[in-house]
Amino acid sequence: MSRLPSARRSVLIACTCTLLLFFTYGVTADSHSPNLQAFPNSTGTLKTFSSQGSINLSSAFFQNLGTNSRTCATCHQPSDGWGITPEHVQARFDADGGLDPIFRPVDGAVCPTADVSTVDARRQAYSMLLTKGLIRVSMPVPANAAFTLESIDDPYNCATPGALALFRRPLPSTNLRFLSTVMWDGRETAAGQSIVNDLASQANDATLGHAQAAVAPTAAQIKDIVDFEMSLTTAQATDNDAGNLDAEGGNGGPQSLVSQEFFLGINDPLGLNPTGKAFDSSALTMYQKWANLSSSPNAKYSEARAAVARGEVLFNTLPIPIEGVAGINDVVNQQTVLGTCTTCHDSPNVGDHSLSQPLNIGLTDASRRTPDMPLYTFRCNLTGKTIQTTDPGRALVTGRCEDIGKFKGAILRGLASRAPYFHNGSAATLMDVVEFYNTRFNLQLNSQQKSDLVAFLKTL
Ligand code: HEC
Ligand code: HEC
Repeated sequence: MSRLPSARRSVLIACTCTLLLFFTYGVTADSHSPNLQAFPNSTGTLKTFSSQGSINLSSAFFQNLGTNSRTCATCHQPSDGWGITPEHVQARFDADGGLDPIFRPVDGAVCPTADVSTVDARRQAYSMLLTKGLIRVSMPVPANAAFTLESIDDPYNCATPGALALFRRPLPSTNLRFLSTVMWDGRETAAGQSIVNDLASQANDATLGHAQAAVAPTAAQIKDIVDFEMSLTTAQATDNDAGNLDAEGGNGGPQSLVSQEFFLGINDPLGLNPTGKAFDSSALTMYQKWANLSSSPNAKYSEARAAVARGEVLFNTLPIPIEGVAGINDVVNQQTVLGTCTTCHDSPNVGDHSLSQPLNIGLTDASRRTPDMPLYTFRCNLTGKTIQTTDPGRALVTGRCEDIGKFKGAILRGLASRAPYFHNGSAATLMDVVEFYNTRFNLQLNSQQKSDLVAFLKTL
């Protein structure tokens, strides 16, 4: 941003995300943006480091490879933690009345046949995108499924058994070298295949699907996209309360994350670490040095830094009685597993699950359904049991009844730039996330514990 003349800089402050991208990226003479450029969010700034040396804005990731003017960056914006936020989607809508390429009926609208002929019609059609940044993923019930779709209750009268409507948040297209599972339901992860090959398949499908390409991207274009994605490391870098996240021994920000070790199964809690090393519940350790800051030159940040450190300790050690989580309790055959946040978010300093392990934490249960979401009723063929869910998740990939409602635990870095949270955007804020866990697992957190957890999560 420092390269822009000051007049343009003042425009920047007022303008929207698309414009921000346009001004910051479009106006510069070359087509690279510098590493570690600061993107503001409500609690500080987010930065991305690329091992390619800079963010290459002419990579195929930013190219229009389909027929509807969309690029990967349409839904994976550097300013939004490489996802999208409703706030910025709304600004894009207001800029030209909903003509921006993100507003395409194929998967931006509540139904591909929705009326998009006027500004008001578009506001209706794109309501899920505008309110929660949700894209309509469409998948069939698999032919070999061990369950039967009994009924569909779709507020948009659009979903069919051959094309269920699943409203999901774009996942960040950064920090991908830490992934064990690609997509919320892992449908782009093939057993035994490397992450690079998973991402190649994903890029192909995204071009044919989201960008409605008539022909598949070339091998060179796919390689360009995957090389670009794999080069990226993103994290919150500064916090309005705690200052620079790598100061005074803190290891926040993208530069520390660049050298973070990862392999499939690292720190696995169920004994599946290939090195045989035992699980360490203290999986996130960036702010250990902030636990005992004495009166320092940065005293104005000390209180906030202590809160971040307390939040990190809670994340690692707060006892959570895990009950009714398909993917855990049924796997170890225990009604209650006494765990921590890191039982599920075990990957060191990243917070996803280091092995593919889809879990049902109850987000899609009928009891949590909001009126804007479809509700599906399935019957398991073997047991006759009826299950209602807003999104069957993993079960549409495997056809297994046990997998209904299972999703992956996402990478937890860069959270502050990409509210709302969970695959369905049901938690508007990080406090809402904490409140979800507090209720779901009856944690009885006090207000200080809640605010410490949020203080920590917003520095990731
Ligand atoms: C219209 C919006 C949109 C466009 C355009 C788009 N994506 Fe996505 N992307 C999504 C959504 C939504 C998901 C999550 C879907 C799911 O899991 O079912 C996603 C998921 C991903 C993931 C998975 C990350 C993870 O943690 O598993 C990657 C990688 C990705 N997209 C890359 C790309 C690439 C590369 C392109 C361009 C070829 C692209 N996307 C274009 C919306 C979009
Ligand atoms: C039983 C396993 C489990 C436990 C325990 C758990 N999580 Fe999660 N977490 C998940 C799964 C699975 C998801 C993804 C769910 C979805 O979106 O469908 C998730 C998602 C999240 C997200 C949202 C990420 C995003 O990109 O939207 C945050 C933040 C989070 N968890 C924080 C926490 C905190 C803080 C704790 C401890 C208080 C915790 N989790 C405990 C399994 C767990």
